[in-house]
Amino acid sequence: MNNFDIESKLTLRRLLPRLERTMADQISKDTKGWDDFKNRLHQHFESLFRLYFTIYSDRYDFFFHLEDLLQGLALAWFQRPADLRELDASREMNPLWFQSNQMLGGVCYVDLFAGDLDGVRSKIPYFKELGITYLHLMPLFKAPEGENDGGYAVSSYREVHPPLGTMDDLESLSREFRNAGISLVVDLVFNHTSDEHLWAKGAKTGDDDFNDFYRIFPNREMPDLYERDLREIFPDEHTGAFTFFPNLFKEGGWVWTTFHSYQWDLNYSNPAVFNRMAGEMLFLANQGVEVIRLDAVAFIWKQLGTNCENLPGAHLLIQAFNAVSRIASPALLFKSEAIVHPDDVVKYISPDECQLSYNPLLMALLWNSLATRKVDLLSQALSTRFNIHPETAWVNYVRVHDDIGWTFSDEDAASFGINGNDHRRFLNEFYRGRFEGSFARGLPFQENPKTGDCRISGTCASLAGLEKAINEEGPAEIELAIRRILLIHGVILTAGGIPLIYLGDEIATLNDYSYLDDPSHARDSRWVHRPKADWEKYARRNAPLTVEGRVYQGLRKLITLRKQNDAFAGYSLQTISTGNEHVLGFTRISANKRAVIFANFSEEPQTIPAWILEQNSVSQLNYLHGFSATEFSGTLAPMDFLVFSD
Ligand code: GLC
Ligand code: GLC
Repeated sequence: MNNFDIESKLTLRRLLPRLERTMADQISKDTKGWDDFKNRLHQHFESLFRLYFTIYSDRYDFFFHLEDLLQGLALAWFQRPADLRELDASREMNPLWFQSNQMLGGVCYVDLFAGDLDGVRSKIPYFKELGITYLHLMPLFKAPEGENDGGYAVSSYREVHPPLGTMDDLESLSREFRNAGISLVVDLVFNHTSDEHLWAKGAKTGDDDFNDFYRIFPNREMPDLYERDLREIFPDEHTGAFTFFPNLFKEGGWVWTTFHSYQWDLNYSNPAVFNRMAGEMLFLANQGVEVIRLDAVAFIWKQLGTNCENLPGAHLLIQAFNAVSRIASPALLFKSEAIVHPDDVVKYISPDECQLSYNPLLMALLWNSLATRKVDLLSQALSTRFNIHPETAWVNYVRVHDDIGWTFSDEDAASFGINGNDHRRFLNEFYRGRFEGSFARGLPFQENPKTGDCRISGTCASLAGLEKAINEEGPAEIELAIRRILLIHGVILTAGGIPLIYLGDEIATLNDYSYLDDPSHARDSRWVHRPKADWEKYARRNAPLTVEGRVYQGLRKLITLRKQNDAFAGYSLQTISTGNEHVLGFTRISANKRAVIFANFSEEPQTIPAWILEQNSVSQLNYLHGFSATEFSGTLAPMDFLVFSD
């Protein structure tokens, strides 16, 4: 069909009266709400219809599912609390609110950071002290006891994991957050559910409706065909992408499980799955969630003969979810979690798909620059891959709860004569602390002997050298490690977009090896960087002579700098060739303010030629940050982070 414009109007004309009949009760109680809903429906139905039609029109029951979807949207809207409807209107007036330099993200586990949701509430003063305006609470939904991939195996999207609190607690917490100027971010783990979810339980009993919610096969025929082209994501846990469950289909069946065996991939070629997940998403939005982190976006669409990652179908689905949200929860934003090749990462970013995205490339290349003491790849990535759609933003980070994967492009590396695979091997050796001269104390994650692949676990501080410096070296190395931590945070705080701090990093939390004693964690090295928050350590954050105090105060200074200077809003960034392979340079311009940044990634002093400073009119700017207390002469101290601005 080409004429979506006309056909969508026609379809809506047929569906609306039916919807009005089904919703008559709610409409009579909330006529203003119904008018608002209809307005947004008229505005966005065409795109929803186009997407839904493109994905599902070959289904004989297409119209049934479309109508079911609209009913779900209307119901969710009627349940949307008044304060959130107000938020919708104000976000629609100011859609680029997230590009402000006031934005600062944080992420933590509810249980590890503060015990439960009540504990998190009691930390609001701390979040305000740090300056947080966006807080991602890691998966907090009902999940299996024992192994549950840190909550990424969800058994119910409408229930909070009982030890953490209740959905009512979450709803009231979101309100308190909003009053404190903090937007609540939670995951929508929508690629898979746990095998204890009601849908999975239904499939286990052989229910035809629920069987079709997952990708289940009676024998190896299809799995073998698919696996010809699939990557192994968690090879330590199971080979291939399928798991055998002896009780399915009497003789047993194979379930698609990209991640762990207890995480069952959903079947989005079934429109019922889309509709139900849209319902779960709107339910969360109605609890006051302002940003949904779309987990594992790359994997949601499967097609035989492909590697089933980043397929066009995945984009159509996310765009359809986006259209749903524009109609029934307009304040909601999406953040994409695509830890894949940089060419693929950017494809998820647009106002109609994900307005926000993790920036795994910047993250990986910051660590790369610390290891190589060179900024070539980093500077190239900032100049060629950093500028995205003006109505979107990167979420820039140095660490999160996951491993570091070296997802830079081999072609980019080749332009500097670097062989991608060899270089990844070097980085893995370096961050495992096995390379001569390495400062890092990281652990391998999902090392795959078949392919040589490996990723790295470890906290920011341990990877940046602090663990080794404290245990084996001394004050000079401790100082360098602290500077490394501040340097890479300096970049994410000034580059634009939303900087995201993995809470614990701001007080230089070291690796915690006790995960090895817990059988439900021992096989997953990512737990080395997921320790329980140490509040005695936090108590030292204002003591200037402690390591915690030096990192915390240093970060606070950078955060204040960001918030006080409008040049750090927005998204546009120009790199500066500094004439020195160890020094990164870039300019930020926003709201008629200009800032120039130089970052020295080496442990030696480095000089920038005078003509480069002149060309960038550095002398006309104020010196705002750096280790040289006096006038800047062109020489940067080891690991120095310099900021100039008007
Ligand atoms: C995401 C999460 C990761 C989890 C995976 C499977 O990548 O960040 O922690 O293991 O999804 O849900
Ligand atoms: C893979 C996935 C990514 C996930 C990670 C978890 O790299 O691509 O989505 O975060 O595994 O370790």
